[in-house]
Amino acid sequence: MASAILGAGAMECVARRPRAALAVAGLGLLLGMRALRRSLAGRFRQVPGWPLVGVLPQVDGGKRLAQCMEKWASELGQEGAYEFSLMGTRYVVVCDWELGKQVFGQRPLNVTRNEAFEHVMPPLVGDGAFSAEGEKWKRHRKITSPAFNSTAVRGYFPAVRETVGLLVELLEAGAADGAPPTNFSRLLPLLSMEVVVKVVFGQESGALRHGQSVVTDLLFEVFAAIQERYLAPVPYWLLPGASLVGLGAGSGAAPRLKEEIRRLLAGIPEGDTSCLVTRLAEAEGDKLSRQEVEGNLSQFLLAASETTSSALAFAFHHLSLQPELQQQVAAEVAEKAPGGVQSQDQLASLKLVKAVWMETLRLRSPGPMLALSTAVPIEIAGRTVAAGVNIFVLTRYIQNHTPEAKVLGEDLGEFRPSRWLSANERFVEFATLDTIAFGHGVRKCPGQRLAEDEGVLVIAEVLRRFQLEKGADSLAEISAFAQSPAEDVVLKLSRRTAEAGARGRA
Ligand code: HEM
Repeated sequence: MASAILGAGAMECVARRPRAALAVAGLGLLLGMRALRRSLAGRFRQVPGWPLVGVLPQVDGGKRLAQCMEKWASELGQEGAYEFSLMGTRYVVVCDWELGKQVFGQRPLNVTRNEAFEHVMPPLVGDGAFSAEGEKWKRHRKITSPAFNSTAVRGYFPAVRETVGLLVELLEAGAADGAPPTNFSRLLPLLSMEVVVKVVFGQESGALRHGQSVVTDLLFEVFAAIQERYLAPVPYWLLPGASLVGLGAGSGAAPRLKEEIRRLLAGIPEGDTSCLVTRLAEAEGDKLSRQEVEGNLSQFLLAASETTSSALAFAFHHLSLQPELQQQVAAEVAEKAPGGVQSQDQLASLKLVKAVWMETLRLRSPGPMLALSTAVPIEIAGRTVAAGVNIFVLTRYIQNHTPEAKVLGEDLGEFRPSRWLSANERFVEFATLDTIAFGHGVRKCPGQRLAEDEGVLVIAEVLRRFQLEKGADSLAEISAFAQSPAEDVVLKLSRRTAEAGARGRA
């Protein structure tokens, strides 16, 4: 080892003259220290880890990633950023809002989505606004944005309402005497897929009615493949014959999903002016190619489903633990939308239900962190972070730990939706962090309005009809594409009586 540092000539000198030996050793030490200081200059406080694998044992293969990063932020994040190493890769974690805003402000060119997305998604589903970067992203986003504006989303409301109606019909069976508890974790992904299929293509896939459908099965399969490829240490699916021995990681499902998307595109009802595809077709100016349309539609389906269903599963878990809150919600719906929610305006009047949705996203965000990369060297907290470094921005941690969060109260560990409402039923001022679960800046989620319509409507319609019996006392999370419940949310339902609704109003 010594010969590697000092060189063979110096070794000879050391043997003959001890003083010279000391001088050479000192020089070597000095040079070594300088080199070390230079390499550490841009470093933040580091999470202790193991050689080679880094923090892998702590994060349990990634499942506890968000939880661990939030804990490390409390311990090591005084500077607003810290870092860790995972399987030899460096990750810088930003846990302060000022620094977070600076990082978001560098998008879309200097800071990109974690580069793995660009490599993993397009080969399976094609190009789209979620995975594209740079000028290509600008074009995809510009052309697809009108399909998510408030007029367009208002037009999708009947489709959302109809699909939520199907869910409620299914839940009726679960509320019958002697019926087993309802597995919300099984039903909600089907609901959110069905909502987005109906909104995008103006057709029902059959997922909710029949418990499955070709397009939803393929989407679940491709979704699993994206996660598998994203986490894989090597692209084993590229090996010759990988698919034949079951190592295709979605290679079989991806072309079938494309075919299914084409079949749905061909089946759009004549004269349908409200579905998302029609909105895209009506866009003025530059158009997407057919392949780009298909890529974007697949990416919308993927981006919309697990996020919304995960948030709703958490919402029902928390509601099940607070019967009084359930009654208050039911009473609000009974007062503002007596025959059920018929319009977006009625939906907007349900302040407490919206507060339940916001509280769910605050405490149980499906996207508690954003995985980004530097495309060029950038400054973070006075240090230069080189190009090609992975950055996590801990959005949920920031939302709950920034000093401004005091407007929401001191009990931020509790699920208490009323914190969002001030005395005159206005929402507490906490912009822009109130919607940080959807990201921030130019790449903020375009589906926010649609997700909110679905989330608020589902909570309102389910609690209008049913009471949820108490579920598990606590519900752990796992990190995947979306932060999700670690256990299925399984709850016993009973039909709500008129008296129960009235009690909530009293
Ligand atoms: C509760 C539900 C949802 C949550 C929490 C959520 C959250 C997010 C987040 C955190 C991002 C990344 C933002 C960023 O990089 O700054 C994102 C991006 C995106 N979301 Fe959502 N989302 C939800 C529902 C939806 C829905 C319903 C759709 C559409 C049908 C959708 C479509 C997209 C798309 C296309 C992007 C990529 C935007 C871009 O990179 O330009 N999302 N979403």
